[in-house]
Amino acid sequence: MQAQQARDTGSGHDAKRDRGTMHDTNTNRGGDGPRGGGADRDTAVLDGYAERMAATDPLLPAFTNPAASASAVLRTRDGMAFTTRSAVPPGSMGSLWRPLVEYRLDMRVTGSDPATAVDGLLCRWEDQLAEAVSYDEGYGWDSAAVVTRPSRDTTGATALLRRGFAATRVLAVRPANRLGAGPPAVPGVRIRAAVEQDLPTLTRMRAELHAYDSQFGVVTARSDALERLTEDARAQLAADTSVPQLWIAELYGRPLGFLEVELPPEANWIAGYVQADRVGYLASLHVAEEARSSGVGSALVAHAHQLFDSEDIEAVLLHHALESPRSTPFWYAHGYRPLWTSWYRRPAVG
Ligand SMILES: CC(C)(COP(=O)(O)OP(=O)(O)OC[C@H]1O[C@@H](n2cnc3c(N)ncnc32)[C@H](O)[C@@H]1OP(=O)(O)O)[C@@H](O)C(=O)NCCC(=O)NCCS
Repeated sequence: MQAQQARDTGSGHDAKRDRGTMHDTNTNRGGDGPRGGGADRDTAVLDGYAERMAATDPLLPAFTNPAASASAVLRTRDGMAFTTRSAVPPGSMGSLWRPLVEYRLDMRVTGSDPATAVDGLLCRWEDQLAEAVSYDEGYGWDSAAVVTRPSRDTTGATALLRRGFAATRVLAVRPANRLGAGPPAVPGVRIRAAVEQDLPTLTRMRAELHAYDSQFGVVTARSDALERLTEDARAQLAADTSVPQLWIAELYGRPLGFLEVELPPEANWIAGYVQADRVGYLASLHVAEEARSSGVGSALVAHAHQLFDSEDIEAVLLHHALESPRSTPFWYAHGYRPLWTSWYRRPAVG
């Protein structure tokens, strides 16, 4: 699972486990841009974008104006963008799933040539980034410039590529009634709720997953990863939730995989990213290397979907690394599809 604890993405949502995240805001320079502000013009851009996105993807939520929580607002003729900076402290749980400092750009473009509007906004952001990064000196690889966009809004993708961004992380969605096709059920696989005695197994598998995902550019290798993951698993095993969050897959009695799910209210932090009332979050899934490609992962997913169905969940969300040769085909075979795509450039300025 890709950076399941990194509470991010496009439209201004709060963080749960990233309680240490500091959003540096309220220096909103509203008139920043060659043509200044103009409330009517801003409204036209925001409304035009919201309208285009509603036609592009029915599963996107309603778009709001994020100006109040932005550090700065950038403007071009047919575009607006909102910048934010967030940081997590070294040694925090959040630091496992992301770079320590992220500069984010939330773009809204409209008009007959939205790709040019994207290019113009990125151009203006580069100047600001160079200044911000010189202020934050020393983060290097632990900094990233991030642009999160509706996955189906592909206009301006070339402008991002030209500036060294890569589509890296996806928030994928599976509506409740979507069918997926995995392998046939495997005899001998048993799924059960994790118990305290599973802590060493869970920690080992979570460390394997963290190490695997840290290859793809957002999840970050840390010397204290094992310690943080152990603390987190211990807290989750002790958590008082109506449905267990952690599940183990055993093949003939041997634990070979695990699953972590969040139901409302635990999953409410992510619910605003999708047009649905009850939202579940598939936070982690991992199968030991020696057991992969034999149906264990599919058995865990089938179990997760049963849990979500029995709790009347309308849409399930999950994060994954786009580049992962294991997770990307796996999730799309099981009925998921991209909803939000995060483009990363790391370090933030080369
Ligand atoms: C992603 C992961 C959980 C998948 O688990 P898995 O147990 O390997 O997956 P399964 O065996 O259930 O499903 C994949 C296999 O099903 C079979 N399969 C897939 N679709 C099928 C279909 N329509 N019909 C028949 N068989 C099918 C294939 O054999 C496929 O294996 P292959 O891709 O090697 O050809 C596992 O590879 C893993 O832990 N990877 C590393 C960590 C990770 O990426 N976790 C997810 C993070 S987002």
